[in-house]
Amino acid sequence: MIEAVERRLEQYICSLEQPFVAELYRKLPHGKRLRAKLILYIAGETNEAVKLASIVELIHAASLLHDDVIDDAMLRRSKPSINAVYGNKISIMLGDILYSKGFSELTMLDSKIAQIVSNAVTKLSIGELHDVEMSKEFNCDKDKYLDMIYGKTASLIEASAWSAALLCGKSAQNYRLYGRNLGLAFQMIDDLLDITSSSEVLGKPALHDFSEGKTTLLYIYLYNVLDSEKKIKLKSLHKKTLLDSEAGWILEEMEKNGILSKCYMDAKLLIDEAVSLMSYENEPKLVAIAKEMIDRNF
Ligand code: FPP
Ligand code: MG
Repeated sequence: MIEAVERRLEQYICSLEQPFVAELYRKLPHGKRLRAKLILYIAGETNEAVKLASIVELIHAASLLHDDVIDDAMLRRSKPSINAVYGNKISIMLGDILYSKGFSELTMLDSKIAQIVSNAVTKLSIGELHDVEMSKEFNCDKDKYLDMIYGKTASLIEASAWSAALLCGKSAQNYRLYGRNLGLAFQMIDDLLDITSSSEVLGKPALHDFSEGKTTLLYIYLYNVLDSEKKIKLKSLHKKTLLDSEAGWILEEMEKNGILSKCYMDAKLLIDEAVSLMSYENEPKLVAIAKEMIDRNF
């Protein structure tokens, strides 16, 4: 089913008639194709759904090319990132090409769908901007964190489910909420795995977020339960390359204070709502995607 999307993506890239762009595009790891799967599972494998799914995947790939430059990330899904191999300029320009090709194809879809997806890309970019801004200081505001992950991750997943529902006349509201919850939980689990998983399993360095300045939900919860002396210690480690003993202290405090399970439960609550929405809509595949999301280890 997803092969139809891969073929359409190839066709979009070949239509540019730029062999170097095609060569670079083929070097990108495909990832889970979560957004495309949602669209096809919701709207079925129609021509319009395949187009929409391919456009969203082009936009998503572009956002990761830019994100790896912003984050100075040398690995993407266990492989050297495009910026690591070809440099930042190539990574940004490839992102621009994929993103503008996606938008030019989007203009040919129904205007309501085009509006939902393009608004989501604005939210995505604002979310990324907030992520960068928030990384400068230690953030202990949970609402700010939730707004930021809604923008940078959940908005495009929400738009995928919502626009797919509109495409086939299903209940926009339920599918939109499903996508929003799935997206928020996805980022929360991603942030959790940064702490609990090894670099080998993740395909990127582990326990990296905090050194990068990202005060994810785990650090916000931990900060709030620590005494004042330990609060100062935690803040002093923010944006630092951690020694093994410092990383060990953070992990120990997180475990002692039940922070990992508290974050997992937050994600689980969102997934439970997503599961009940899709059970009501009689969508077993979408229920399965939500359940897999919470139990993944990469
Ligand atoms: C990954 O977050 C980043 C995103 C999901 C969004 C990135 C968005 C932009 C760069 C805005 C520009 C958009 C376009 C379409 C050009 P992360 O760094 O927490 O996750 P990671 O570990 O996978 O890198
Ligand atoms: Mg990143």
